[in-house]
Amino acid sequence: MTVIFQPYQLADLALPNRVVMAPMTRSRARSHAPDDSTAQYYAQRASAGLIIAEGTQISRQGQGYLWTPGIYSDEQLAGWHRVTNAVHDAGGRIFAQLWHTGRMSHVSLQENGRAPLSSVDSQVSTNWPVFAYDEAGNPAQIQASPARKMTVEEIHATTGDYVRAAENAIAAGFDGIEIHSAGCYLLDQFINGALNTRDDEYGGEKIENRLRFVLQVVDAVSKAIGSTRVGIRITPEGRIHDATAYPSEHDTFVTLASELSKRNLAYLHIFDMGISPELLADIRGAYRGTLIIAGDYTKEKAQAAIDAGKADLVAFGRPYIANPDLVERFRNDWPLAVAEHTAFYGGDDRGYTDFPTYKAA
Ligand SMILES: Cc1cc2nc3c(=O)[nH]c(=O)nc-3n(C[C@H](O)[C@H](O)[C@H](O)COP(=O)(O)O)c2cc1C
Repeated sequence: MTVIFQPYQLADLALPNRVVMAPMTRSRARSHAPDDSTAQYYAQRASAGLIIAEGTQISRQGQGYLWTPGIYSDEQLAGWHRVTNAVHDAGGRIFAQLWHTGRMSHVSLQENGRAPLSSVDSQVSTNWPVFAYDEAGNPAQIQASPARKMTVEEIHATTGDYVRAAENAIAAGFDGIEIHSAGCYLLDQFINGALNTRDDEYGGEKIENRLRFVLQVVDAVSKAIGSTRVGIRITPEGRIHDATAYPSEHDTFVTLASELSKRNLAYLHIFDMGISPELLADIRGAYRGTLIIAGDYTKEKAQAAIDAGKADLVAFGRPYIANPDLVERFRNDWPLAVAEHTAFYGGDDRGYTDFPTYKAA
């Protein structure tokens, strides 16, 4: 038995193995609420040590793409309850990923056509479209709208939205929540020193100012549901959604890791989008707690990463789309199915709940 199949105690949660299903947006929630297909999809994948469900907006304001689910209305909560029940009945464990996309949004998704919010006035380039309504009212990949700099009051109100979303997640039966602070979405738009040039206590050159919002959210959510039920995902040195490098980037993420280390969280989750080995090692050194790593892992690479002490758990994204029984396939060295990219986002149950287990196939 190799290490990835050994149990792991994640705070109060006993994981049967170290294989995590990474959060993946699948854009099938036409009414922005999960449904029976969502429940079936996650239950099929319940043999994962831990499932981290898809990015889920904490509020209408936090939405950046059509057909992603939220966790703020009664209908959404009822839908999530069906999902968590199905996963638990199948023997699994599941966290919700709490998402606010910040400037990665469009006026057609916002209440009364308001501008999306961010750390500063800014607009993402056409390289990184969002999925929203075009001028004719049709769903389309279009450029994000110009975003407006948040006021301090709005920062506090949004912190409150994270708290309500976390409380909702627990009420809906999730085992915990992951704060989505990755991918240059809202919280990362505050962390990034190239983007966040605010001149108040929430931005500018000082690292502690750029980390203030994310740590405020971590603390508020921890107070509400207990720190050991709170994980957080980051993408240090990620270059997605127009995120660019800045001189204090390395120090920013090491400082964040050491601040998070004081907070007795469930875990820190790094999505490796090209992080340097030096920064990864420094974060590992600064963060005393469970570290999850994701990004292009195979069974062998995952095993090697855990053996080398680089991480405690490894999350798999794309392999989970077509292999609901990924753990069993790894365990038995069965071949992996490969999903068509066209089925990743949107559509119906095809490419979603219709992938058989290896044995069934
Ligand atoms: C279809 C798809 C949707 C994704 N959606 C999310 C998301 O909602 N939240 C997130 O943090 N990462 C998201 N990711 C990134 C994955 O969690 C994962 O980190 C990435 O796919 C790299 O892992 P892999 O090489 O095993 O696929 C998504 C990836 C894919 C392929």
